[in-house]
Amino acid sequence: MERITRADDRVHRPAGPWTPTVHRLLAHLHEQGFVAAPEPIEHGDTLETVSFVPGVAGEYPWTEDVASEAALVTSARLLRQFHDAAATYPLDASRDCWSQAERTPVETIVHGDFAPYNCVYDGIQAVGLIDFDTAHPGPRVWDVASAVYRFAPFTTGAVEGMTAPALEDRLARAAEFCRAYDLDARSRSVLAETMTASLVAMVTTMETEAAAGNPKFVSDLAHGHADLYRADVAYLEQHADAIAAAVA
Ligand SMILES: Nc1ncnc2c1ncn2[C@@H]1O[C@H](COP(=O)(O)OP(=O)(O)OP(=O)(O)O)[C@@H](O)[C@H]1O
Ligand SMILES: [Mg+2]
Repeated sequence: MERITRADDRVHRPAGPWTPTVHRLLAHLHEQGFVAAPEPIEHGDTLETVSFVPGVAGEYPWTEDVASEAALVTSARLLRQFHDAAATYPLDASRDCWSQAERTPVETIVHGDFAPYNCVYDGIQAVGLIDFDTAHPGPRVWDVASAVYRFAPFTTGAVEGMTAPALEDRLARAAEFCRAYDLDARSRSVLAETMTASLVAMVTTMETEAAAGNPKFVSDLAHGHADLYRADVAYLEQHADAIAAAVA
């Protein structure tokens, strides 16, 4: 977190080759009236500056507020509003540079890591969305699937701040998220497999980046994150039919 500093109403974060594109996306979101995202302020080769989004990020351990059904519902609605605003972003392949490869079908710009820890809450209400480094063109269900994985949650690991939910509670929260987002039938039919695909993609990224010496991913790997995601893939595959039925 020392990489990220706050001064008054501004946040300074490390920049990457994708930062100019992400700032164009953030500006577009504000033009569309989606003010839950940080405002882009400036960017250089190594640092970017964006506005501080007031509220409390849903970091682990989850508070009772973040674990609430209302937080899940308002987060899903926030994701919907973000996707609707991002859908009119004027894509320009000659200029845009994203940190992740485009995924088809391109329906909007997806956030790429929509989770409680990247949402900002005012009590039980999701009011902000931060950390757009992994944004890229893709299908809405890519974000919804990884969000459902984080919010249900479908991890086999411990979720700090809550006792491991029973499968039926996870399924009910998955269905609630899709309902609040108003996810279409075709996306629902591929949600379970998309969740698995997003975990496999994370493991691949982690292993590739760690092999290239990226310290964040070397640390994630050393802390067993890839093993946990693999165990979660097995859990999701075991319950794929139940998940598909719950969100149908
Ligand atoms: N624009 C912002 N408005 C409010 N809080 C922010 C903002 N940017 C970052 N933060 C705070 O800093 C934390 C980490 O920032 P961010 O999610 O952008 O980076 P990260 O690379 O994901 O880091 P981490 O792995 O620690 O989450 C957030 O959880 C939040 O508390
Ligand atoms: Mg984050």
